Amino acid sequence: RQIAIFASGSGSNFQAIVDAVQAGTLKANIGLLVCDQPGAFVIHRAQSAGIPAFVFRAKDYENKQAFEREIQRHLEAAGVDFIVLAGYMRLIGPTLLESYGGRIVNIHPSLLPAFPGKDAVGQALEAGVKITGVTVHYVDAGMDTGEIIEQEIVRISTGETRDSLQEKIQHVEHHLYPVTLNHLFLTTGY
Ligand code: GRF
Repeated sequence: RQIAIFASGSGSNFQAIVDAVQAGTLKANIGLLVCDQPGAFVIHRAQSAGIPAFVFRAKDYENKQAFEREIQRHLEAAGVDFIVLAGYMRLIGPTLLESYGGRIVNIHPSLLPAFPGKDAVGQALEAGVKITGVTVHYVDAGMDTGEIIEQEIVRISTGETRDSLQEKIQHVEHHLYPVTLNHLFLTTGY
Protein backbone atom coordinates (compact mmCIF):
# COMPACT_ATOMS: atom_id res chain seq x y z
CA ARG A 1 0.00 0.00 0.00
CA GLN A 2 1.29 3.40 -1.01
CA ILE A 3 0.01 6.28 1.14
CA ALA A 4 0.38 10.06 1.08
CA ILE A 5 0.20 12.12 4.26
CA PHE A 6 -1.18 15.67 4.09
CA ALA A 7 -0.07 18.04 6.87
CA SER A 8 0.18 21.78 7.54
CA GLY A 9 2.04 22.06 10.83
CA SER A 10 4.36 20.38 13.29
CA GLY A 11 3.65 16.90 11.97
CA SER A 12 3.80 14.94 15.22
CA ASN A 13 1.14 12.59 13.78
CA PHE A 14 3.16 12.34 10.56
CA GLN A 15 6.12 11.31 12.72
CA ALA A 16 4.08 8.71 14.62
CA ILE A 17 3.04 7.13 11.30
CA VAL A 18 6.62 7.20 9.97
CA ASP A 19 7.83 5.53 13.19
CA ALA A 20 5.15 2.82 12.96
CA VAL A 21 6.08 2.08 9.34
CA GLN A 22 9.78 1.88 10.28
CA ALA A 23 8.97 -0.37 13.24
CA GLY A 24 6.94 -2.66 10.96
CA THR A 25 3.74 -2.28 12.99
CA LEU A 26 2.05 -0.35 10.17
CA LYS A 27 2.22 -2.23 6.87
CA ALA A 28 2.34 0.63 4.38
CA ASN A 29 4.78 2.73 2.43
CA ILE A 30 4.74 6.52 2.71
CA GLY A 31 5.24 7.73 -0.84
CA LEU A 32 4.67 11.45 -0.38
CA LEU A 33 4.12 14.31 2.05
CA VAL A 34 1.77 17.02 0.79
CA CYS A 35 2.16 20.29 2.68
CA ASP A 36 0.49 23.68 2.08
CA GLN A 37 2.76 25.66 4.46
CA PRO A 38 6.33 26.17 3.19
CA GLY A 39 7.62 26.92 6.72
CA ALA A 40 6.07 23.91 8.43
CA PHE A 41 8.24 21.69 10.65
CA VAL A 42 6.71 18.57 9.09
CA ILE A 43 8.84 19.26 5.98
CA HIS A 44 12.00 18.73 8.05
CA ARG A 45 10.56 15.51 9.42
CA ALA A 46 9.96 14.25 5.86
CA GLN A 47 13.51 15.19 4.84
CA SER A 48 14.96 13.31 7.83
CA ALA A 49 12.90 10.25 6.97
CA GLY A 50 13.81 10.41 3.26
CA ILE A 51 10.20 10.93 2.20
CA PRO A 52 9.58 13.13 -0.87
CA ALA A 53 7.44 16.21 -0.32
CA PHE A 54 5.20 18.33 -2.50
CA VAL A 55 5.06 21.75 -0.83
CA PHE A 56 2.83 24.47 -2.24
CA ARG A 57 1.18 27.80 -1.43
CA ALA A 58 -2.55 27.98 -2.12
CA LYS A 59 -2.25 31.62 -3.09
CA ASP A 60 0.05 30.75 -5.99
CA TYR A 61 -2.93 29.06 -7.66
CA GLU A 62 -6.12 30.45 -9.11
CA ASN A 63 -8.39 28.25 -7.00
CA LYS A 64 -8.66 24.97 -5.09
CA GLN A 65 -9.29 22.98 -8.25
CA ALA A 66 -5.98 24.22 -9.68
CA PHE A 67 -3.82 23.20 -6.71
CA GLU A 68 -5.71 19.95 -6.18
CA ARG A 69 -5.04 19.01 -9.83
CA GLU A 70 -1.35 19.62 -9.17
CA ILE A 71 -1.53 17.54 -5.99
CA GLN A 72 -3.24 14.79 -7.95
CA ARG A 73 -0.42 14.73 -10.50
CA HIS A 74 2.10 14.24 -7.67
CA LEU A 75 -0.04 11.53 -6.07
CA GLU A 76 -0.29 9.65 -9.35
CA ALA A 77 3.43 9.99 -10.05
CA ALA A 78 4.15 8.54 -6.59
CA GLY A 79 1.64 5.70 -7.12
CA VAL A 80 -0.42 6.76 -4.09
CA ASP A 81 -3.65 4.84 -3.49
CA PHE A 82 -4.65 6.13 -0.03
CA ILE A 83 -4.57 9.60 1.60
CA VAL A 84 -4.00 10.23 5.32
CA LEU A 85 -4.76 13.74 6.62
CA ALA A 86 -2.73 14.66 9.70
CA GLY A 87 -3.30 18.27 10.66
CA TYR A 88 -4.01 19.41 7.07
CA MET A 89 -5.90 22.66 7.64
CA ARG A 90 -7.99 22.67 4.45
CA LEU A 91 -11.18 21.06 3.26
CA ILE A 92 -10.62 18.48 0.53
CA GLY A 93 -12.36 19.62 -2.67
CA PRO A 94 -14.26 17.81 -5.43
CA THR A 95 -11.14 17.15 -7.52
CA LEU A 96 -9.46 14.93 -4.92
CA LEU A 97 -12.77 13.52 -3.61
CA GLU A 98 -13.62 12.32 -7.11
CA SER A 99 -10.41 10.36 -7.52
CA TYR A 100 -9.78 9.30 -3.89
CA GLY A 101 -13.28 9.28 -2.36
CA GLY A 102 -13.60 6.54 0.29
CA ARG A 103 -9.81 6.35 0.46
CA ILE A 104 -9.14 9.51 2.51
CA VAL A 105 -9.09 9.56 6.31
CA ASN A 106 -8.53 12.25 8.93
CA ILE A 107 -7.80 12.45 12.66
CA HIS A 108 -9.67 14.99 14.75
CA PRO A 109 -9.06 15.97 18.41
CA SER A 110 -12.60 15.47 19.76
CA LEU A 111 -15.32 12.83 19.95
CA LEU A 112 -17.14 13.76 16.73
CA PRO A 113 -19.80 14.86 16.04
CA ALA A 114 -18.99 17.08 19.04
CA PHE A 115 -16.63 20.02 18.40
CA PRO A 116 -15.91 19.83 14.65
CA GLY A 117 -13.72 22.41 12.93
CA LYS A 118 -10.89 24.45 14.32
CA ASP A 119 -9.72 24.42 17.94
CA ALA A 120 -11.64 21.35 19.10
CA VAL A 121 -9.53 21.27 22.30
CA GLY A 122 -10.49 24.86 23.16
CA GLN A 123 -14.14 24.15 22.28
CA ALA A 124 -14.22 21.20 24.73
CA LEU A 125 -12.71 23.27 27.55
CA GLU A 126 -15.10 26.11 26.84
CA ALA A 127 -18.11 23.74 26.93
CA GLY A 128 -17.00 22.41 30.32
CA VAL A 129 -17.34 18.74 29.32
CA LYS A 130 -15.51 16.10 31.39
CA ILE A 131 -14.92 13.71 28.52
CA THR A 132 -13.50 14.40 25.09
CA GLY A 133 -11.22 12.34 22.87
CA VAL A 134 -9.94 11.55 19.42
CA THR A 135 -11.74 10.43 16.25
CA VAL A 136 -10.41 8.81 13.09
CA HIS A 137 -12.92 9.21 10.27
CA TYR A 138 -13.39 9.05 6.53
CA VAL A 139 -13.29 12.37 4.72
CA ASP A 140 -16.23 13.72 2.74
CA ALA A 141 -17.01 17.21 1.48
CA GLY A 142 -18.05 18.48 4.93
CA MET A 143 -16.04 19.76 7.86
CA ASP A 144 -15.21 16.64 9.95
CA THR A 145 -18.50 14.99 8.92
CA GLY A 146 -17.41 11.70 7.30
CA GLU A 147 -18.16 8.23 8.64
CA ILE A 148 -16.46 7.46 11.96
CA ILE A 149 -13.88 4.64 11.93
CA GLU A 150 -12.51 4.68 15.49
CA GLN A 151 -12.64 6.79 18.65
CA GLU A 152 -10.81 6.92 21.96
CA ILE A 153 -11.80 8.74 25.15
CA VAL A 154 -9.69 11.38 26.94
CA ARG A 155 -10.87 12.58 30.37
CA ILE A 156 -10.70 16.24 31.30
CA SER A 157 -9.42 16.62 34.87
CA THR A 158 -10.19 19.39 37.34
CA GLY A 159 -7.77 22.22 36.65
CA GLU A 160 -7.00 20.94 33.16
CA THR A 161 -5.26 23.53 31.01
CA ARG A 162 -5.24 23.88 27.29
CA ASP A 163 -1.62 22.69 27.16
CA SER A 164 -2.17 19.68 29.40
CA LEU A 165 -5.29 18.60 27.48
CA GLN A 166 -3.56 19.12 24.16
CA GLU A 167 -0.72 16.91 25.37
CA LYS A 168 -3.08 14.13 26.53
CA ILE A 169 -4.94 14.22 23.23
CA GLN A 170 -1.79 14.14 21.13
CA HIS A 171 -0.47 11.22 23.15
CA VAL A 172 -3.65 9.27 22.29
CA GLU A 173 -3.49 10.35 18.63
CA HIS A 174 0.06 9.10 18.16
CA HIS A 175 -1.00 5.64 19.26
CA LEU A 176 -4.49 5.54 17.75
CA TYR A 177 -3.72 6.70 14.21
CA PRO A 178 -1.12 4.09 13.21
CA VAL A 179 -3.05 1.26 14.89
CA THR A 180 -6.34 2.26 13.24
CA LEU A 181 -4.71 2.64 9.83
CA ASN A 182 -3.10 -0.78 10.06
CA HIS A 183 -6.40 -2.34 11.09
CA LEU A 184 -8.17 -0.58 8.23
CA PHE A 185 -5.62 -1.80 5.69
CA LEU A 186 -5.87 -5.38 6.98
CA THR A 187 -9.66 -5.51 7.06
CA THR A 188 -10.60 -3.64 3.89
CA GLY A 189 -9.77 -4.19 0.28
CA TYR A 190 -7.85 -0.93 -0.26
C1 GRF B 1 -3.80 17.05 15.57
O1 GRF B 1 -4.24 17.35 16.87
C2 GRF B 1 -4.94 16.55 14.73
O2 GRF B 1 -5.95 15.92 15.47
C3 GRF B 1 -5.49 17.81 14.12
O3 GRF B 1 -4.37 18.62 13.91
C4 GRF B 1 -3.34 18.29 14.83
C5 GRF B 1 -2.08 18.08 14.07
O4 GRF B 1 -0.96 18.00 14.91
N1 GRF B 1 -6.26 17.50 12.94
P1 GRF B 1 0.45 17.52 14.33
O5 GRF B 1 0.83 18.47 13.21
O6 GRF B 1 0.29 16.11 13.83
O7 GRF B 1 1.41 17.61 15.47
